[in-house]
Amino acid sequence: PVPSADERYRPVLHFTPPQGFMNDPNGLVFADGEWHLFYQHNPFEAKMGRVHWGHAVSRDLLHWQVLPLALRETADGMAFSGSAVIDRANSSGLLAQRGEGNGRGGMVAVYTRASATRQVQALAYSSDGGRSFADYRGNPVLDVGSDQFRDPKVFWHAPGKVWVMCVVRSREHRVMFYRSRNLKDWRAAGEFAHAGVYGIDYECPDLVELPVAGGGTRWVLFLSINPGAPQGGSTVQYFVGRFDGRRFVLDDGATRFADFGKDFYALQTFAGVDGAPVGIAWMNNWQYANDLPTGRWRGAMTLPRRLSLRRVADDWKLVQEPLGLEAARRQVIAQGPGRASTALPPDTALEIRLACAPDTVTSLRLANGTGEYLEVGYDPGPAVGSVWVDRGNARGFRHRFFTDKMSWAPPPDGKPLDLRLVFDRCSLELFAAGGTGCATLLHFFAAPPDRLELAVAGGPLPDIAVHALLPTGGR
Ligand code: FRU
Repeated sequence: PVPSADERYRPVLHFTPPQGFMNDPNGLVFADGEWHLFYQHNPFEAKMGRVHWGHAVSRDLLHWQVLPLALRETADGMAFSGSAVIDRANSSGLLAQRGEGNGRGGMVAVYTRASATRQVQALAYSSDGGRSFADYRGNPVLDVGSDQFRDPKVFWHAPGKVWVMCVVRSREHRVMFYRSRNLKDWRAAGEFAHAGVYGIDYECPDLVELPVAGGGTRWVLFLSINPGAPQGGSTVQYFVGRFDGRRFVLDDGATRFADFGKDFYALQTFAGVDGAPVGIAWMNNWQYANDLPTGRWRGAMTLPRRLSLRRVADDWKLVQEPLGLEAARRQVIAQGPGRASTALPPDTALEIRLACAPDTVTSLRLANGTGEYLEVGYDPGPAVGSVWVDRGNARGFRHRFFTDKMSWAPPPDGKPLDLRLVFDRCSLELFAAGGTGCATLLHFFAAPPDRLELAVAGGPLPDIAVHALLPTGGR
């Protein structure tokens, strides 16, 4: 069946709200075998507006079940971004109040209650696995008298046996750290301020310890800025350093970006994950998020990605690896020597892997018979090469700020460049050079692509592996 106009752009593998508007991922937490994805949500209209917390859960990070709204707009304001933790020891005492939570612990959400004049931090708690929340009667737990103070990310700092919150004074370009033993009483600990690209607002901070390839760990502070991204609008920068429970001290002075595409924002990691953290970002840009041609719903999340660090030459690289794709592979479309043109089954999400030669230009197009295409390529260049993406020839959406070309220069090492692409109706995620160079972007074909075209400027076509990714049910 041909999907309706509202549905034809809806990704298959990526989480989208059933209807209405979605922005930032919130309260990401893994507990009792369930991945919880809460999200900024206007259920009434497919535009940023009356912000609630939506909720979905998954057991495999591929199939999401939408649950009732978790946090609502009230007379005190909207429910802006925040985080969630499992309070196993009931340090908050909130869970015992409802006669539950001892031993197993319940979930505590820490979020921003936002009115026109104030942004304050508030708690809500759940003893039924996040199915229902009650607001803490002592709210707010943190109020500094500001209207630009938001997006608390709380985590358990095991060495100090303490809860730590990072939260932004967004217009002042300050990330504040607070500490607490009970999630209710918060004491200022330190701050990380006036760093990197300011943009207009600092938003959605996340401080997390990442494994380093070859051994050891570093703390990474992810910090979203909007607007003010080098490529326009919204983006995620990150800083690499050490954290002692109070102060975040940089390894070097560099500002790095998590993605070179235009649609990667508000990255957050899951609480409760052992080993390398898993993050999800909002696959969008505030420059045009309210205008996307998707009808009754607007906004999609990225695939969940495992995050780590790698030292490359004298630089730190964030490594991002999409999760769940192996389990999502349903059909081999091509495997082995590349062909100039490969027919694609209609309406299918795809994973494409290839290695581009270090001495010639490679280009790959998802195309249709009307002349539309989405292009990804690698040009090794005479001195330093670039990976590029061009969405300017898919013609389903025109917008002043929906700029079309993005590129990234991998470290010049003279080796083939590996590319892994995930195409899912209106999205493309590109993972280059072992996940050290990533681009996330939306694109809108007027008519869906039906073929894959591969070309090199000289020499043989590279080997390619193309899989159809299908949902295993539920949609
Ligand atoms: C980021 C953001 C947050 C805020 C939320 C409101 O996209 O602006 O700073 O909490 O969206 O929906």
